[in-house]
Amino acid sequence: MSLCRICGGTVTEFVEFGRQPISDAFLVPGRTDGEYFYHLAAGLCQSCTMVQLLAEVPREMMFHEDYPYRTSESASMAKHFELVAKRFLETELAGPDPFVVEIGSNDGVMLKTISDAGVRHLGVDPSAGAARAAERAGVRARVDFFEKTSAAAIRQADGPAKVIFSANTFSHIPYIGSVLEGVGELLADDGVFVFEERYLADIVASKAFDQIYDEHYYLFCVRSVRNLVERYGFELVDVEHLAVHGGAARYTVARPGARRPNAAVAEFLDREASLGLADLATFTQFAANAKVIRDDLMTLLRDLRAKGKTIVGYGATAKSATAINYCGITTELVPYVCDSTPDKQGKLMPGSHIPVRPPAAFSAPYPDYALLFAWNHAEEVMAKEKEFQESGGKWILYVPDVHVV
Ligand code: TYD
Repeated sequence: MSLCRICGGTVTEFVEFGRQPISDAFLVPGRTDGEYFYHLAAGLCQSCTMVQLLAEVPREMMFHEDYPYRTSESASMAKHFELVAKRFLETELAGPDPFVVEIGSNDGVMLKTISDAGVRHLGVDPSAGAARAAERAGVRARVDFFEKTSAAAIRQADGPAKVIFSANTFSHIPYIGSVLEGVGELLADDGVFVFEERYLADIVASKAFDQIYDEHYYLFCVRSVRNLVERYGFELVDVEHLAVHGGAARYTVARPGARRPNAAVAEFLDREASLGLADLATFTQFAANAKVIRDDLMTLLRDLRAKGKTIVGYGATAKSATAINYCGITTELVPYVCDSTPDKQGKLMPGSHIPVRPPAAFSAPYPDYALLFAWNHAEEVMAKEKEFQESGGKWILYVPDVHVV
């Protein structure tokens, strides 16, 4: 039994994936000694309904100078964030001299559009490598963790923020209350805190067990988010569903009474009740589904190899750390994984030590099968690699179940 990081309630474990490496800790060949492992398990808080991990990896071990993930590697995500920025510019940021802050600004993909429009902004990100990339794009960045102290310093220097935005970062932080305290320091009285995160209802529906890994400390739904923000003196005023990352939600939070809540909040809450997102049985089934996927995938990979077929991985995603290490995929089955991120190429995947190669290695020569770890970008990847299928290659996907296309 463990206690909820948010409300102190009882967290009941529903799934465990065993010993796991840090998902974005790619290794230099020949320097694999001392690799860090932790026990990956997730549970449901019986009180506030937040789904959360049971063990925490220290933040400095996950998010540091060399954090390799770059949001801009996906053209569809770059487009998505450009539209997010344009919408802010037309709405929340339309008044005189607005100021916008992004928590986890990565390579500046969203703030670039804000910067180009001449609007005051600041990206906050603990990864110096990502922040440098943002600065090269003309974005003002601060290498830091966003919390009460850094937020107070930002307010002192730049004044209150009309918009605080965060995408795929807020849920990564176990001490999440300190982020909300920071938002409390920095947000203008009529400002909004808007964040996008993978949506628990989609994770359950698509059996996406690999969305559980160290960085995804919390898996949000509307009910658990509402409970969380109310605990820190905010109100959830809007929710939108997003198609990105296999299904996500955008939450809008304001100071109580500052905005009239949109009817969508109540609609989402009703739907989540009917989906059983607060019921342990839903998650026990989710864990059983993960086992079936693991067994089916390993059977398929072993059968294909026994027939002499070649298989290559596509997308050295953080998600794949769970998929690979939980299923037990080795270099015998998948000799390398192709990925477009320069900082991942030439390195070894965490845990399995499968080498990462650039996309050019994919066609030289094409394998018989490609295991798509970046399944959330299936449309973009398959369009880009259409010659692979045209020349007889097949994709292996493993959510919502193992299938070949
Ligand atoms: P992503 O699924 O966005 O996130 P996570 O790491 O959180 O699971 O990661 C996508 C990875 O796939 C990233 O390393 C870049 C890579 N990628 C390609 O190699 N080619 C592509 O066409 C796309 C879209 C992504």
